Amino acid sequence: MNGTRVLVVVGTRPEVVKMAPVVAALRAVGGIDVRLLATAQHRGLLDQQLAFFGLVPDRDLDVMVPEQTLTGLTASLLLALAPALHDERPDLVVVQGDTTTVLATALASHHARLPIAHVEAGLRSGDRNAPFPEESNRTLVSHLAAVHFAPTAGARDNLLREGLAAASIHIVGNPVVDALLWTRDRVDAGRFAPSGGRRLLLVTAHRRENLGAPFAAICAAVRALADRDDVEVLFPVHPNPRVYGPAHQLLGTHPRIRLVAPLDYPDMVAAMLASTVILTDSGGVQEEAPSLPRPVVVLRERTERPEGVAAGRALLVGTDRDLIVAAVSRLLDQPAAVAAMTRGSNPYGDGRAGPRIAAIVRDFLSAR
Ligand code: UD1
Repeated sequence: MNGTRVLVVVGTRPEVVKMAPVVAALRAVGGIDVRLLATAQHRGLLDQQLAFFGLVPDRDLDVMVPEQTLTGLTASLLLALAPALHDERPDLVVVQGDTTTVLATALASHHARLPIAHVEAGLRSGDRNAPFPEESNRTLVSHLAAVHFAPTAGARDNLLREGLAAASIHIVGNPVVDALLWTRDRVDAGRFAPSGGRRLLLVTAHRRENLGAPFAAICAAVRALADRDDVEVLFPVHPNPRVYGPAHQLLGTHPRIRLVAPLDYPDMVAAMLASTVILTDSGGVQEEAPSLPRPVVVLRERTERPEGVAAGRALLVGTDRDLIVAAVSRLLDQPAAVAAMTRGSNPYGDGRAGPRIAAIVRDFLSAR
């Protein structure tokens, strides 16, 4: 296996968080040349997370442009990836999740006849339009990858239903739990503690299918909740202009709503720890919250992460203003409801996904 090279590719903030434990575990195996390529589909958000995990990309494609479109971004990624993969000549390309970076990397690797390992494989909402375009991205990537790291048994079953070979699928947990547990022990939750005995609601929302009217309804719900004087809201706002503009317009003037720039990972973990309830349309936050443990109100109509809902750790509420206000008010007014949502283990992982993935990659490389 000596002399083998693995290329790990990241493009956005969540990919860095979830791949940091994988990179560390691959490096700990020894005998593998582990290279990191950043596409920089995101610039500011990506650099913030790379710095926290002490990761320095060996290559940076720097593709992000303001107001980038999905097609424009995909095209720039494919054109930039082809020569990079040619120069790197890895024995395996490792991607994570469902972003445009992941789809483009899988396609460019396939064109270069390079095998692909997919971390967080097998998540399915069953609706191509939600999350858009992530549901199609991860489905397409599954059919290009040689090795599938499924976080849960449900994710594995989704892949088997699509006809993928059982021997290529490994249930390993989600490395986001590794990253979270490591970070949780290094942060000061007091930093975001609300004043005057108030409870903190942490809000994040940025998904494409929520832009426009659903996002306005989410903001209306957040405003109504902040009208209670026993509550404070912290809302780190994604830099996408279609999120940033409306968030500031609809929520900017409320005395108990703090709109802040995107938090780096330790601050995000500290903010989650300081909160009583988390409202989010993010996938990663749904996976992290059960380990803290905090109840999550999911601001989406459907989720590809049903395990948290089934385990009673998350409520799938959608984007209706009144339904959001009712669900969160109940959690604020009934401590027993919060207690019921914060018991038990995290269905998404035990914090050992990184080493499991590294051992399987080692065996895959040795067998070739
Ligand atoms: C992408 C992922 C999504 C993930 C999210 C995390 C896809 C299809 N979706 O969505 O699954 O949850 O990242 O953030 O890949 N922008 C900036 N600065 C930044 C980052 C983005 O200005 O640091 C701007 C971009 O230029 C673009 C917009 O925000 O105009 C949207 O970015 P894009 O990468 O297309 O998708 P996200 O919505 O961020």
